[in-house]
Amino acid sequence: MSERIFLSPPHMNGREINFINEAFDTNWIAPFGPNLTGFENDMSKYLGINKSLALSSGTAAMHLALMYVGVQKDDVVFCSDLTFAGSCNPAVYIGAKLVFIDSDYETFNMSPVALEKAFEKYEKLGKLPKAVIIVDLYGNPANFDELLPICESYGVTVIEDAAEALGAEYKGKKCGTFGKINILSFNGNKVITTSGGGMACSEDTQAIEKMHFWANQSKEPVNYYLHKEVGYNYRMSNISAGIGRGQMLTLDERVSQRRFVNEYYKKELGDLPIKFSPETVGAVSSCWLSVITIDEGISVSPDDVIEALEKENIESRRVWNPMHCHPVFADCDYINSGEIDVGIDVFNRGVCLPSGSSLSEEELQHIVKVVRAVFGK
Ligand SMILES: Cc1ncc(COP(=O)(O)O)c(C=O)c1O
Repeated sequence: MSERIFLSPPHMNGREINFINEAFDTNWIAPFGPNLTGFENDMSKYLGINKSLALSSGTAAMHLALMYVGVQKDDVVFCSDLTFAGSCNPAVYIGAKLVFIDSDYETFNMSPVALEKAFEKYEKLGKLPKAVIIVDLYGNPANFDELLPICESYGVTVIEDAAEALGAEYKGKKCGTFGKINILSFNGNKVITTSGGGMACSEDTQAIEKMHFWANQSKEPVNYYLHKEVGYNYRMSNISAGIGRGQMLTLDERVSQRRFVNEYYKKELGDLPIKFSPETVGAVSSCWLSVITIDEGISVSPDDVIEALEKENIESRRVWNPMHCHPVFADCDYINSGEIDVGIDVFNRGVCLPSGSSLSEEELQHIVKVVRAVFGK
């Protein structure tokens, strides 16, 4: 059998090792050191944002972000429904009450109509949320021009979950800059990776300093161990940050390669009874994953596509299962914009095709051939 084609594997450029070697040579084998500072500075510069804090994961970044914006036990937090659990699990760590907001078909991201509905409902209940987590799904920027003014009109803080959208832009502004605090992920399957890791980015220096304090076990700045607050061990290691520094050198190239993959599928599969996931008006998606939805009334299911690819040793996946459909979030409220649950519909008909930036044209041809055959083409 031919070598496995993965959904979104790490893509090294070879220069990461220089930063790691430097860390070994200088014995910076710690959760601090020049690679960390370098990686944080590189990211701030790339995004055009004031400060960044490298952390052990995107989930850790979300946890600290929620804490910083003041979310406490029993507070309400609104979150995109169609996402990965890493977006919202940290709200549960704090004991907050999650309310999931459905997507729209134009972006697959949070629907402004559903968001407004949720605000109206929770205002009446006297329980406005402490934060709104807006996700850029599969690398496609959310409709910030409509979502941000709604949150602003209720005076509620936004946290952007740009875990999948590093390198994406909305109206000329990079994803990872739209919230009060913004989070990124460098998990092994992301646009760039540090094998595991994440970042919190903000214009607010104080926010980054406070999150840095919490991420380092909340050690008070005295010459003995003193803790006035509970802390966390959430820092990224200087070794992982070295991988990140190397990966930053080819970030834009990786986004172009993912966008090429997306274009390739559009060209070669465009005549099938499927739709491609949308790109928000005014946005440039990172195309982290290329997603298709199978037209209604077609006797091909997402599992048929996934199984046919699997037989050829090719990895593909169902679309995220909307958060409100998971047993663990069964008690959470969920708001849609009308009659249709867009997230559920996308989940029922969607497939994520292999989308890695290292896919060769030969591999793409092979994938396309298998997918076409499932549709009898
Ligand atoms: C949308 C989204 N949010 C949050 C996360 C959590 O990031 P991490 O895996 O680095 O904790 C991920 C990915 O893993 C994600 O895709």
